[in-house]
Amino acid sequence: MNYVGISCGFHDAGLSVIDDKGNILFAGHSERYSKKKHDSELCYGIMDDAREYLTDEYEVHYYERPYVKAIRLFLARQDIGSLNPVTIIGNHNLYALNSMEHMQRGSVKTHNHHLCHAAAGFQTSPYQDATVVVIDAIGELDTISIWDAKYDKNGNAKYKKLWGRRYPDSIGLFYSAMTHRVGLRPLDEEYILMGMAAYGTPKYAHNMERLFSNFDDIVLKDNLHIGVEEDFLQGADEMDIASSAQVTVEKLIETVMKKAKQLGKSDNLVYGGGVALNCLANRLLGNYYENIWIMPNPGDAGNSLGAAALGYGKQINWTDAFLGYDIKGEYPIDNIIKELYTNKMVGVANGRAEFGPRALGNRSLLADPRGPEIKDKVNEIKRRQKFRPFAPVILEEHANDYFVMPSGFDNSRYMQCIATCRSPDLFPAIAHFDGTSRVQTVPNDGSGIRKLLERWYEETGCPMLLNTSLNIRGEPMVNDRHDADRFEKLYELKVCS
Ligand SMILES: [Fe+2]
Repeated sequence: MNYVGISCGFHDAGLSVIDDKGNILFAGHSERYSKKKHDSELCYGIMDDAREYLTDEYEVHYYERPYVKAIRLFLARQDIGSLNPVTIIGNHNLYALNSMEHMQRGSVKTHNHHLCHAAAGFQTSPYQDATVVVIDAIGELDTISIWDAKYDKNGNAKYKKLWGRRYPDSIGLFYSAMTHRVGLRPLDEEYILMGMAAYGTPKYAHNMERLFSNFDDIVLKDNLHIGVEEDFLQGADEMDIASSAQVTVEKLIETVMKKAKQLGKSDNLVYGGGVALNCLANRLLGNYYENIWIMPNPGDAGNSLGAAALGYGKQINWTDAFLGYDIKGEYPIDNIIKELYTNKMVGVANGRAEFGPRALGNRSLLADPRGPEIKDKVNEIKRRQKFRPFAPVILEEHANDYFVMPSGFDNSRYMQCIATCRSPDLFPAIAHFDGTSRVQTVPNDGSGIRKLLERWYEETGCPMLLNTSLNIRGEPMVNDRHDADRFEKLYELKVCS
């Protein structure tokens, strides 16, 4: 028996397949195949790829309860469409599913959206029990939830909801409204708002708190689903708005963590939902928990894995995030090193694509992080805002020599927290304006990126590289060889695969 999880119909469609021993056979993002950023629908490319891993017997699990979501749409005066779940899940998504020979017999089972986030986190975590915190913009109705999670004597995952908030009282919607306020795209560019925060002062935090009728209990005065009033903080500097939004969102997250600590019994924290991608705020989690697990894809695409996990029911054998499309072949270490010596930077597209928003070495643009000129050189290709630094990838055993890791994180394998760079002057390309870096630490796991870093360290004495995602501007990350070739031609930069 296989368990197929799908998330689609809103944003960031994903598809995951788990076998009956708890192995993740496939987990991917639709956008990487369709080339539409945040594609909300499943496309044939991802379906065909997933089919390669399917057995004859399977169940299909969907990441939301369409009828419950319809109630929210009704309350928000949005278009409900049809109350038929098949229509709500999306005719063409199901058409794509049903058009596959193997999936014709699959009936679709639906699950609560926040429970899927909880399962995606808890069942991939190493813990036997945990307090699970989910914070996102919105599920069907839930916006924040705290769960007690454990396995029973038969190994079945059990979840008990301890506390929650419902639409429109939402931390995620508040942050998205501020993203919109500074002219960025909500549900897409929140990470840019986070990056801007270091350049401003939080002088408007009090104005933002006044958007809530009860800030300490996370109750909003108005529904921020479509943003704030046009005259909100008129004339304010955008960096100050970003800084104020970050301070405010951190206070709200801390309120939830305090509640989780109070209500939950476990010392282990599992954290999920789109707000868990705020790696700047994540530095605070260690104030509440010593053991922290954030699945590398905590947003809605990752919920396809949560839905599949609920179908499987038990702990999943988590190994790493390399779960998507496979570019077969040896990791091209010699060629990468050669390019790093001659050009200082190189693309790599090899092995299985990362499940989650971060490039972790299989679809990466890598560069020598030493010296002042490399940031501009990489930016010639990436063309991102000058204030945004690139991230470092480092041999895990050397991380503490170069960075001060925040408490609760003795490693950062999926770039989920920021650390303080000990020598930002030596590595200006990978250190932010405030001296922090979003570090990826690589354990001794035999992966291609591990072997590459070992060799780079052996030859240069530097255990780290600059790592940013390999994508054509405005497009999702490179997926297959064809994408890699397009990238190589367009930017005249070697992509090793
Ligand atoms: Fe969500």
